[in-house]
Amino acid sequence: MKTAIVTGASKGVGRATVKILENAGYKVIAVSRNIDKMADLSSNQVDIYKLDITDFNAIQEFYDKYKDITLDLLVNNAGGGSSPTHIINETPENFKIAYDINVTGPMLLSQLFVPSMQRSPSPTIIFITSLCGVVPFRGGGNYSNAKRGEMALIDTMRMEFPAYGIKVTEIRPGTIDTQDEKKDFALTAEDMAESIRWVADLPSHVNINHLEISHLANSKY
Ligand SMILES: NC(=O)c1ccc[n+]([C@@H]2O[C@H](COP(=O)([O-])OP(=O)(O)OC[C@H]3O[C@@H](n4cnc5c(N)ncnc54)[C@H](OP(=O)(O)O)[C@@H]3O)[C@@H](O)[C@H]2O)c1
Repeated sequence: MKTAIVTGASKGVGRATVKILENAGYKVIAVSRNIDKMADLSSNQVDIYKLDITDFNAIQEFYDKYKDITLDLLVNNAGGGSSPTHIINETPENFKIAYDINVTGPMLLSQLFVPSMQRSPSPTIIFITSLCGVVPFRGGGNYSNAKRGEMALIDTMRMEFPAYGIKVTEIRPGTIDTQDEKKDFALTAEDMAESIRWVADLPSHVNINHLEISHLANSKY
């Protein structure tokens, strides 16, 4: 049985990914800050674990608990911005939060689990970035900058991680319909989960470098 870690599993893309991987026969370790919102995901195949991806000591404790597994798939999905504001009002503290969620936390998690992934015949790390990292928006500076930073992290890892036999993929979506406010012309969480499952199941020599996905109506930006 293959094993996957999925961050940001309490809702949205992460929750849909846990379900699709479970149905595909994976053992899944589902991670987010809110254990109550993941309770219904828990099963023989799904472990739930409370982790704040910006708490680097907690990431180390998480690794210590699971370090002996053979890890086939790490989905660095948890992400988001800190308080949205124009750069004129931005603070270093607020900016750093976005970087910790989208760049530093995922970097540390990926780095720690390298030995566990090296036990797998086809280990894959998938990062969920955003089109906002390519096309920033007014008031979304901390998020857009962090997502662009995440892209540079991924590109660097894609050069360095073949040395460990690990594939590194960026999935870069446009708008996804996961927020409270209903969005027209948006991808669904299930669309994203299906793309994650597909990338993860490709043969060990096939590395999807970037996958940019948007709703048909938004495919020209
Ligand atoms: N929604 C969009 O339109 C859109 C577009 C492009 C890219 N994306 C990217 O796609 C990914 C998934 O987005 P989504 O829309 O599914 O997000 P979402 O519905 O807002 O869910 C975010 C998930 O991440 C978790 N999370 C947030 N901060 C965390 C932290 N510090 N530590 C651990 N978990 C944390 C949340 O759980 P807890 O609150 O329980 O911790 C939640 O499970 C993100 O990387 C996002 O940036 C989203």
